[in-house]
Amino acid sequence: LMKCIILAGGSGTRLWPLSRVQFPKQFLKIGDHSLFQATWLRARKLASADEIYVVTNEAHQYLVNNQLEEVGATLDPAHLLREPCGRNTLPAIAWAMATIRAECGDAIAVVFPSDHHLDEAALQEIEAAVPLAEDHLVTFGVKPDCPHTGYGYIRPGAPLVCGSAVDSFKEKPDKETAEGYCQAGYLWNSGMFLLRTTIFFEELERYQPAMAAAFAAGVPEEYAALQNLSIDYGLLEVSERVAVVPLDCAWSDMGDFKALYDHAAHDPKGNAGKAEYIDATGNYVHAKGKAIGLIGVNNLAVVDTGDALLVCAKDQTDKVRDLVARFKGQQ
Ligand code: GDD
Ligand code: MG
Repeated sequence: LMKCIILAGGSGTRLWPLSRVQFPKQFLKIGDHSLFQATWLRARKLASADEIYVVTNEAHQYLVNNQLEEVGATLDPAHLLREPCGRNTLPAIAWAMATIRAECGDAIAVVFPSDHHLDEAALQEIEAAVPLAEDHLVTFGVKPDCPHTGYGYIRPGAPLVCGSAVDSFKEKPDKETAEGYCQAGYLWNSGMFLLRTTIFFEELERYQPAMAAAFAAGVPEEYAALQNLSIDYGLLEVSERVAVVPLDCAWSDMGDFKALYDHAAHDPKGNAGKAEYIDATGNYVHAKGKAIGLIGVNNLAVVDTGDALLVCAKDQTDKVRDLVARFKGQQ
Protein backbone atom coordinates (compact mmCIF):
# COMPACT_ATOMS: atom_id res chain seq x y z
CA LEU A 1 0.00 0.00 0.00
CA MET A 2 1.10 3.54 -0.73
CA LYS A 3 -0.22 7.07 -0.51
CA CYS A 4 -2.29 8.34 -3.44
CA ILE A 5 -2.65 11.92 -4.61
CA ILE A 6 -5.53 12.72 -6.96
CA LEU A 7 -5.24 15.93 -8.96
CA ALA A 8 -8.73 17.22 -9.66
CA GLY A 9 -8.24 20.93 -10.13
CA GLY A 10 -8.00 21.33 -13.89
CA SER A 11 -10.70 23.00 -15.97
CA GLY A 12 -10.89 20.85 -19.10
CA THR A 13 -11.79 23.75 -21.38
CA ARG A 14 -11.54 21.70 -24.56
CA LEU A 15 -14.70 19.84 -23.58
CA TRP A 16 -16.84 22.99 -23.61
CA PRO A 17 -19.87 23.16 -23.52
CA LEU A 18 -19.94 19.90 -21.56
CA SER A 19 -17.35 21.14 -19.12
CA ARG A 20 -17.88 24.54 -17.50
CA VAL A 21 -16.03 26.74 -15.07
CA GLN A 22 -18.37 25.49 -12.34
CA PHE A 23 -18.34 21.92 -13.61
CA PRO A 24 -14.98 20.79 -15.03
CA LYS A 25 -14.57 17.67 -17.10
CA GLN A 26 -13.24 15.39 -14.38
CA PHE A 27 -16.68 15.53 -12.75
CA LEU A 28 -18.66 14.80 -15.94
CA LYS A 29 -20.36 11.42 -16.06
CA ILE A 30 -18.99 9.57 -19.03
CA GLY A 31 -20.51 6.13 -18.70
CA ASP A 32 -21.33 4.99 -15.15
CA HIS A 33 -18.79 7.15 -13.37
CA SER A 34 -17.11 10.48 -13.77
CA LEU A 35 -13.39 10.42 -14.52
CA PHE A 36 -12.84 11.61 -10.95
CA GLN A 37 -14.90 8.73 -9.52
CA ALA A 38 -13.07 6.27 -11.75
CA THR A 39 -9.76 7.69 -10.54
CA TRP A 40 -10.82 7.33 -6.90
CA LEU A 41 -11.88 3.70 -7.42
CA ARG A 42 -8.53 3.04 -9.11
CA ALA A 43 -6.65 4.69 -6.26
CA ARG A 44 -8.56 2.52 -3.77
CA LYS A 45 -6.92 -0.57 -5.32
CA LEU A 46 -3.54 0.81 -4.25
CA ALA A 47 -4.43 2.60 -1.02
CA SER A 48 -6.99 2.62 1.76
CA ALA A 49 -9.42 5.57 1.77
CA ASP A 50 -7.49 7.35 4.53
CA GLU A 51 -4.30 7.23 2.46
CA ILE A 52 -5.80 9.18 -0.44
CA TYR A 53 -5.35 12.95 -0.85
CA VAL A 54 -7.46 14.98 -3.26
CA VAL A 55 -6.31 18.39 -4.44
CA THR A 56 -9.01 20.50 -6.04
CA ASN A 57 -10.29 24.04 -6.32
CA GLU A 58 -12.28 25.08 -3.25
CA ALA A 59 -15.25 25.81 -5.52
CA HIS A 60 -15.40 22.08 -6.32
CA GLN A 61 -15.16 20.63 -2.82
CA TYR A 62 -18.89 19.80 -2.75
CA LEU A 63 -18.69 18.12 -6.15
CA VAL A 64 -15.84 16.00 -4.80
CA ASN A 65 -17.71 15.01 -1.65
CA ASN A 66 -21.00 14.34 -3.47
CA GLN A 67 -19.35 12.23 -6.11
CA LEU A 68 -17.48 10.24 -3.47
CA GLU A 69 -20.71 9.68 -1.57
CA GLU A 70 -22.25 8.31 -4.78
CA VAL A 71 -19.62 5.58 -4.87
CA GLY A 72 -19.98 4.92 -1.15
CA ALA A 73 -16.69 6.54 -0.20
CA THR A 74 -15.66 9.14 2.33
CA LEU A 75 -12.52 11.22 2.24
CA ASP A 76 -10.74 12.32 5.41
CA PRO A 77 -11.59 16.08 5.47
CA ALA A 78 -7.94 16.80 6.29
CA HIS A 79 -6.99 15.09 3.02
CA LEU A 80 -9.20 17.31 0.86
CA LEU A 81 -6.81 20.08 -0.08
CA ARG A 82 -8.82 23.04 -1.33
CA GLU A 83 -6.97 25.54 -3.48
CA PRO A 84 -8.27 29.12 -3.36
CA CYS A 85 -7.07 29.38 -6.97
CA GLY A 86 -5.43 27.06 -9.48
CA ARG A 87 -1.63 27.35 -9.64
CA ASN A 88 -1.08 24.29 -11.83
CA THR A 89 0.28 20.89 -10.88
CA LEU A 90 3.56 21.65 -9.11
CA PRO A 91 2.03 23.61 -6.20
CA ALA A 92 -0.88 21.12 -6.05
CA ILE A 93 1.49 18.15 -5.80
CA ALA A 94 3.84 19.98 -3.42
CA TRP A 95 0.93 20.73 -1.08
CA ALA A 96 -0.16 17.09 -0.97
CA MET A 97 3.46 15.91 -0.54
CA ALA A 98 3.98 18.40 2.29
CA THR A 99 0.81 17.13 3.98
CA ILE A 100 2.01 13.53 3.65
CA ARG A 101 5.45 14.47 4.99
CA ALA A 102 3.88 16.21 7.98
CA GLU A 103 1.66 13.22 8.74
CA CYS A 104 4.07 10.36 8.22
CA GLY A 105 7.53 11.56 7.31
CA ASP A 106 9.26 9.72 4.51
CA ALA A 107 6.72 8.02 2.22
CA ILE A 108 6.05 7.13 -1.39
CA ALA A 109 2.99 8.48 -3.17
CA VAL A 110 1.49 7.85 -6.56
CA VAL A 111 0.06 10.91 -8.32
CA PHE A 112 -3.04 10.36 -10.47
CA PRO A 113 -4.43 13.01 -12.80
CA SER A 114 -8.21 12.72 -13.12
CA ASP A 115 -8.58 13.13 -16.85
CA HIS A 116 -7.61 9.70 -18.14
CA HIS A 117 -8.85 6.27 -18.94
CA LEU A 118 -6.48 3.65 -17.71
CA ASP A 119 -6.34 -0.11 -17.87
CA GLU A 120 -6.38 -1.78 -14.44
CA ALA A 121 -3.24 -3.70 -15.39
CA ALA A 122 -1.34 -0.44 -14.97
CA LEU A 123 -1.78 -0.63 -11.19
CA GLN A 124 0.54 -3.62 -10.96
CA GLU A 125 3.11 -1.85 -13.10
CA ILE A 126 2.91 1.14 -10.76
CA GLU A 127 3.38 -1.02 -7.67
CA ALA A 128 6.32 -2.78 -9.29
CA ALA A 129 8.04 0.58 -9.76
CA VAL A 130 8.22 1.34 -6.02
CA PRO A 131 11.92 0.29 -5.71
CA LEU A 132 12.75 2.78 -8.48
CA ALA A 133 11.02 5.57 -6.54
CA GLU A 134 13.47 5.14 -3.65
CA ASP A 135 15.88 7.48 -5.43
CA HIS A 136 14.09 8.75 -8.53
CA LEU A 137 11.12 10.84 -9.57
CA VAL A 138 9.31 8.13 -11.51
CA THR A 139 7.25 8.83 -14.63
CA PHE A 140 5.23 6.32 -16.66
CA GLY A 141 5.70 6.34 -20.41
CA VAL A 142 3.23 5.50 -23.15
CA LYS A 143 4.11 4.63 -26.74
CA PRO A 144 2.96 7.55 -28.93
CA ASP A 145 0.60 6.90 -31.84
CA CYS A 146 0.73 10.44 -33.30
CA PRO A 147 2.89 13.57 -32.87
CA HIS A 148 0.48 15.06 -30.30
CA THR A 149 1.65 18.48 -29.08
CA GLY A 150 -0.30 18.40 -25.81
CA TYR A 151 1.94 15.86 -24.07
CA GLY A 152 5.36 15.63 -22.51
CA TYR A 153 7.95 13.55 -24.41
CA ILE A 154 10.45 11.33 -22.64
CA ARG A 155 13.68 9.96 -24.02
CA PRO A 156 14.55 6.76 -22.13
CA GLY A 157 18.24 6.27 -21.31
CA ALA A 158 20.25 3.68 -19.38
CA PRO A 159 18.32 0.76 -17.86
CA LEU A 160 17.77 0.87 -14.09
CA VAL A 161 16.46 -1.58 -11.45
CA CYS A 162 13.22 -1.40 -13.41
CA GLY A 163 12.44 0.97 -16.24
CA SER A 164 15.22 3.35 -17.22
CA ALA A 165 16.82 6.69 -16.53
CA VAL A 166 15.43 9.66 -18.45
CA ASP A 167 17.87 11.26 -20.89
CA SER A 168 15.61 14.15 -21.63
CA PHE A 169 12.10 15.33 -20.92
CA LYS A 170 10.42 17.89 -23.16
CA GLU A 171 7.01 19.23 -22.22
CA LYS A 172 4.58 20.02 -25.07
CA PRO A 173 6.96 20.34 -28.04
CA ASP A 174 5.84 21.89 -31.33
CA LYS A 175 4.54 19.63 -34.11
CA GLU A 176 7.84 19.25 -35.98
CA THR A 177 9.79 18.42 -32.85
CA ALA A 178 7.08 15.94 -31.80
CA GLU A 179 7.33 14.19 -35.18
CA GLY A 180 11.08 13.77 -34.71
CA TYR A 181 10.54 12.47 -31.17
CA CYS A 182 8.04 9.87 -32.38
CA GLN A 183 10.53 8.59 -34.93
CA ALA A 184 13.33 8.56 -32.37
CA GLY A 185 11.38 6.31 -29.99
CA TYR A 186 10.47 8.82 -27.30
CA LEU A 187 7.55 8.00 -25.00
CA TRP A 188 4.61 10.18 -23.98
CA ASN A 189 4.50 11.20 -20.36
CA SER A 190 1.28 9.66 -19.04
CA GLY A 191 0.97 12.30 -16.31
CA MET A 192 1.11 9.75 -13.47
CA PHE A 193 4.07 9.85 -11.12
CA LEU A 194 5.56 7.88 -8.27
CA LEU A 195 7.25 10.24 -5.83
CA ARG A 196 9.10 9.79 -2.57
CA THR A 197 8.72 12.75 -0.22
CA THR A 198 12.46 13.14 0.49
CA ILE A 199 13.52 12.99 -3.17
CA PHE A 200 10.69 15.26 -4.26
CA PHE A 201 11.58 17.98 -1.75
CA GLU A 202 15.32 17.67 -2.44
CA GLU A 203 14.67 18.28 -6.12
CA LEU A 204 12.13 21.03 -5.40
CA GLU A 205 14.69 22.72 -3.15
CA ARG A 206 17.31 22.48 -5.89
CA TYR A 207 15.26 23.69 -8.86
CA GLN A 208 12.34 25.66 -7.37
CA PRO A 209 13.67 26.96 -4.06
CA ALA A 210 10.96 29.61 -3.66
CA MET A 211 8.26 26.96 -4.00
CA ALA A 212 10.10 24.63 -1.59
CA ALA A 213 10.33 27.45 0.96
CA ALA A 214 6.62 28.19 0.63
CA PHE A 215 5.77 24.60 1.59
CA ALA A 216 8.42 24.22 4.29
CA ALA A 217 5.83 24.70 7.03
CA GLY A 218 3.00 22.77 5.33
CA VAL A 219 0.28 25.01 3.91
CA PRO A 220 1.62 28.11 2.16
CA GLU A 221 0.39 31.36 3.61
CA GLU A 222 -0.65 32.90 0.35
CA TYR A 223 -1.50 30.31 -2.28
CA ALA A 224 -2.24 32.93 -4.93
CA ALA A 225 1.31 34.23 -4.61
CA LEU A 226 2.81 30.89 -5.70
CA GLN A 227 4.25 30.61 -9.18
CA ASN A 228 1.88 29.06 -11.73
CA LEU A 229 3.96 26.07 -12.79
CA SER A 230 3.43 22.46 -13.84
CA ILE A 231 5.57 19.64 -12.46
CA ASP A 232 6.58 18.94 -16.04
CA TYR A 233 8.27 22.30 -16.63
CA GLY A 234 9.20 22.90 -13.01
CA LEU A 235 10.88 19.58 -12.14
CA LEU A 236 10.79 16.89 -14.81
CA GLU A 237 12.49 18.94 -17.54
CA VAL A 238 15.29 20.03 -15.22
CA SER A 239 15.89 17.29 -12.65
CA GLU A 240 18.58 14.70 -13.30
CA ARG A 241 16.86 12.15 -11.11
CA VAL A 242 13.92 11.33 -13.36
CA ALA A 243 13.20 7.73 -14.36
CA VAL A 244 10.62 6.25 -16.69
CA VAL A 245 8.73 2.98 -16.60
CA PRO A 246 7.06 2.10 -19.90
CA LEU A 247 3.37 1.33 -19.43
CA ASP A 248 2.28 -1.78 -21.22
CA CYS A 249 -1.44 -1.16 -21.17
CA ALA A 250 -4.25 0.97 -22.50
CA TRP A 251 -4.03 4.64 -21.55
CA SER A 252 -5.88 7.56 -23.04
CA ASP A 253 -6.28 11.18 -22.24
CA MET A 254 -9.92 12.27 -22.35
CA GLY A 255 -8.95 15.81 -23.24
CA ASP A 256 -11.17 16.60 -26.23
CA PHE A 257 -14.15 15.44 -28.28
CA LYS A 258 -11.91 13.45 -30.59
CA ALA A 259 -10.90 11.35 -27.56
CA LEU A 260 -14.52 10.97 -26.40
CA TYR A 261 -15.44 9.92 -29.95
CA ASP A 262 -12.64 7.35 -30.07
CA HIS A 263 -13.78 5.96 -26.73
CA ALA A 264 -17.52 5.75 -27.63
CA ALA A 265 -19.44 3.00 -29.44
CA HIS A 266 -19.68 3.58 -33.21
CA ASP A 267 -22.36 2.58 -35.74
CA PRO A 268 -21.24 0.92 -39.01
CA LYS A 269 -20.73 4.37 -40.56
CA GLY A 270 -18.47 5.40 -37.72
CA ASN A 271 -20.96 7.77 -36.11
CA ALA A 272 -21.12 7.94 -32.32
CA GLY A 273 -24.06 9.34 -30.36
CA LYS A 274 -27.84 9.27 -30.62
CA ALA A 275 -29.04 10.97 -33.82
CA GLU A 276 -30.44 10.18 -37.25
CA TYR A 277 -27.67 10.10 -39.83
CA ILE A 278 -28.12 10.30 -43.61
CA ASP A 279 -25.01 10.21 -45.79
CA ALA A 280 -23.02 11.12 -42.70
CA THR A 281 -19.93 9.37 -41.35
CA GLY A 282 -17.45 9.70 -38.51
CA ASN A 283 -19.53 12.17 -36.50
CA TYR A 284 -19.76 12.59 -32.73
CA VAL A 285 -23.08 13.77 -31.29
CA HIS A 286 -23.82 14.57 -27.67
CA ALA A 287 -27.24 16.00 -26.86
CA LYS A 288 -30.11 15.40 -24.49
CA GLY A 289 -33.88 15.74 -24.93
CA LYS A 290 -33.67 16.78 -28.57
CA ALA A 291 -34.17 15.16 -31.94
CA ILE A 292 -30.92 15.59 -33.85
CA GLY A 293 -30.33 14.92 -37.53
CA LEU A 294 -27.13 15.06 -39.57
CA ILE A 295 -27.21 14.97 -43.36
CA GLY A 296 -24.26 14.88 -45.70
CA VAL A 297 -21.66 15.91 -43.15
CA ASN A 298 -18.62 14.01 -41.97
CA ASN A 299 -16.25 14.04 -39.02
CA LEU A 300 -18.06 16.67 -36.99
CA ALA A 301 -18.49 16.99 -33.26
CA VAL A 302 -21.96 18.29 -32.43
CA VAL A 303 -22.44 18.99 -28.74
CA ASP A 304 -25.64 20.49 -27.36
CA THR A 305 -26.29 21.36 -23.74
CA GLY A 306 -29.54 23.30 -24.11
CA ASP A 307 -27.92 26.66 -23.40
CA ALA A 308 -24.97 26.13 -25.70
CA LEU A 309 -24.23 24.44 -29.01
CA LEU A 310 -20.87 23.47 -30.46
CA VAL A 311 -20.33 22.37 -34.06
CA CYS A 312 -16.69 21.59 -34.67
CA ALA A 313 -14.56 19.70 -37.18
CA LYS A 314 -13.39 16.62 -35.29
CA ASP A 315 -9.76 17.21 -36.21
CA GLN A 316 -9.80 20.75 -34.81
CA THR A 317 -11.18 20.09 -31.34
CA ASP A 318 -8.06 21.58 -29.77
CA LYS A 319 -9.35 25.00 -30.89
CA VAL A 320 -12.29 24.75 -28.49
CA ARG A 321 -9.91 26.27 -25.97
CA ASP A 322 -9.64 29.44 -28.11
CA LEU A 323 -13.40 29.51 -28.47
CA VAL A 324 -13.90 29.40 -24.72
CA ALA A 325 -11.44 32.28 -24.35
CA ARG A 326 -13.69 34.34 -26.64
CA PHE A 327 -16.80 33.44 -24.66
CA LYS A 328 -15.13 34.29 -21.37
CA GLY A 329 -17.50 36.16 -19.10
CA GLN A 330 -20.56 35.19 -21.15
CA GLN A 331 -21.17 31.75 -19.67
N1 GDD B 1 -5.49 20.48 -7.98
C1 GDD B 1 -5.12 20.92 -9.17
N2 GDD B 1 -4.75 22.22 -9.30
N3 GDD B 1 -5.11 20.06 -10.20
C2 GDD B 1 -4.74 20.54 -11.40
C3 GDD B 1 -4.35 21.87 -11.61
C4 GDD B 1 -4.36 22.77 -10.48
O1 GDD B 1 -4.07 23.96 -10.55
N4 GDD B 1 -4.03 22.03 -12.92
C5 GDD B 1 -4.22 20.83 -13.49
N5 GDD B 1 -4.66 19.92 -12.58
C6 GDD B 1 -4.99 18.50 -12.78
C7 GDD B 1 -5.91 18.27 -13.96
O2 GDD B 1 -7.26 18.19 -13.52
C8 GDD B 1 -5.43 16.93 -14.48
O3 GDD B 1 -6.09 15.88 -13.80
C9 GDD B 1 -3.94 16.90 -14.12
O4 GDD B 1 -3.78 17.84 -13.06
C10 GDD B 1 -3.00 17.26 -15.28
O5 GDD B 1 -3.24 18.59 -15.67
P1 GDD B 1 -3.55 18.97 -17.18
O6 GDD B 1 -3.78 20.44 -17.23
O7 GDD B 1 -4.60 18.08 -17.73
O8 GDD B 1 -2.14 18.68 -17.85
P2 GDD B 1 -1.88 18.33 -19.37
O9 GDD B 1 -2.81 17.26 -19.83
O10 GDD B 1 -1.86 19.60 -20.15
O11 GDD B 1 -0.38 17.75 -19.34
C11 GDD B 1 0.02 16.76 -18.41
O12 GDD B 1 -0.56 15.50 -18.71
C12 GDD B 1 -0.14 14.93 -19.97
C13 GDD B 1 -0.83 13.58 -20.14
O13 GDD B 1 -2.19 13.73 -20.17
C14 GDD B 1 1.54 16.69 -18.45
O14 GDD B 1 1.99 15.90 -17.36
C15 GDD B 1 2.05 16.12 -19.77
O15 GDD B 1 3.45 15.94 -19.73
C16 GDD B 1 1.38 14.77 -20.01
O16 GDD B 1 1.82 14.22 -21.25
MG1 MG C 1 -4.63 16.57 -19.20
